[in-house]
Amino acid sequence: MEDATRQALLAALSWQAAMGADEAILAEPQRRDVPPPEPTQTQASPRPTLAVLRPPGGMAVELAAGATSLEELREAMARFEGSPLRETASQLVFADGVPGAPVMVIGEAPGADEDRIGRPFVGVSGRLMDRMMATIGLSRQTNLYITNILPYRPPGNRTPSDAEVALFMPFLHRHIALARPRLLVLAGGVSAKGLLQTREGITRLRGKWQKFTSSQGEVIPVLPTLHPAYLLRNPLAKRDAWRDLLALQRRLNDGDNVAI
Ligand code: URA
Repeated sequence: MEDATRQALLAALSWQAAMGADEAILAEPQRRDVPPPEPTQTQASPRPTLAVLRPPGGMAVELAAGATSLEELREAMARFEGSPLRETASQLVFADGVPGAPVMVIGEAPGADEDRIGRPFVGVSGRLMDRMMATIGLSRQTNLYITNILPYRPPGNRTPSDAEVALFMPFLHRHIALARPRLLVLAGGVSAKGLLQTREGITRLRGKWQKFTSSQGEVIPVLPTLHPAYLLRNPLAKRDAWRDLLALQRRLNDGDNVAI
């Protein structure tokens, strides 16, 4: 291959990676520059019916409601075919840690490491989160349960859209109802806005206790905090994160006798 052609191909590749197209979806490369053939009269596709529009794996609300255990919920989510993210991600990333733990952390979405390994928060921001939680005696081996708002990695680690967050919300609500944590920690703006249904930014929300009412009617105290990936980019913000951790520790030690 000529050097100039090679350079041009490499430049095109790095442009695609910068745009977030960092996953091969089909085994065969597709020609995007050749227009598809015009449909003939006899090929005209019929108008889609409701049955066609309905995701074949079932609807999120029905699938989530039908799950009576965390394992059934994982299976229901794996069956759900309503999101294109399922096609681009390598696998479903469900949860990690101890089911039934007093604290449940909800992050944003799997990144490249989580997508490869199949567990949430196993990359560099996960390692920071583990270290921070350890300072107040929490670990995924003993008393911490971790999941994300989205179970699939968005291509190129882009921020999940509001529609994607809304699509998976019935699964998250069921997840909380089945895991039954005493306290919820929302890591980052996407999970705080998604679960609390607010447009308020995380820098205003962080550190202020909120309430979440589960589908079983249980009121769970919720602590929004900064995402560890943000802390890696803004080390000075670790001071605020530390305050949030202490607030979490206090609430855990105070037991259930504290007004939210
Ligand atoms: N960031 C998240 O929000 N979740 C993960 O699982 C990993 C990184």
